[in-house]
Amino acid sequence: MRRKLAAGNWKMNGTGDNLAQIAALTAAHPAPGVDILICPPATLLSRVSDAAGNAIATGGQDCHAAGSGAHTGDISAAMLKDAGATHVILGHSERREDHGENDQDVRDKANAAIDAGLTAVICVGESLAEREAANTLAIIGGQLAGSIPDGVTAQNMVIAYEPIWAIGTGKIPTLDQIGEVHDFIRTALEKRFGPGVGRSTRILYGGSVKPSNAEGIFAVSNVDGALVGGASLKAEDFGPIITALENA
Ligand code: 13P
Repeated sequence: MRRKLAAGNWKMNGTGDNLAQIAALTAAHPAPGVDILICPPATLLSRVSDAAGNAIATGGQDCHAAGSGAHTGDISAAMLKDAGATHVILGHSERREDHGENDQDVRDKANAAIDAGLTAVICVGESLAEREAANTLAIIGGQLAGSIPDGVTAQNMVIAYEPIWAIGTGKIPTLDQIGEVHDFIRTALEKRFGPGVGRSTRILYGGSVKPSNAEGIFAVSNVDGALVGGASLKAEDFGPIITALENA
């Protein structure tokens, strides 16, 4: 019922040299059972979109909440769409931390993205201190309530659970911990948006997903795919992750 989604977040990495990875990915891993999404830096968006064709969707990594105006350095959702994007990552912990984005900012951006016809990939996740204080579910619940706009659908929203302490560290939660949070997110979505949207919305896990741990993560209930950082930069790493998702 939910199509699996392998999403790559290139963060602030990549120039024209990296376009070869898109060709390699397309050639080596057709993966008909998996949707593939690459979110390159904005400077590469149109070139990645052209290189990816229909096989791979592309997305931005952030957008402004306004449609246009005097916001030097910012990019609107409509601009992302114009450059070929169908998705945009919003509320990534690096945006929340580096740019002080709070749940309301993420909600405003998600509304702008959806209004422009994009799918908002909304990120939530706890810090290590919050996990150690046994506050994980309370934090995730608050972020979901604050960051997701009303009236979303399973087509224009994807949720990514990314524990902050697992990003770029090589550490991942236990599979039980991942399952606990994903089940919690599923229930929260069902309660707020009803069973239709709640059961159809895709929930991704992100944080140190590698070819070596992907199979285990994808076997966890309510994990519908991954949001992959470092390992999405090279087709030789991202390809096996996509294959693991296809086979899950
Ligand atoms: P890593 O896969 O590099 O840990 O990054 C995860 C992430 O932040 C994806 O958005």
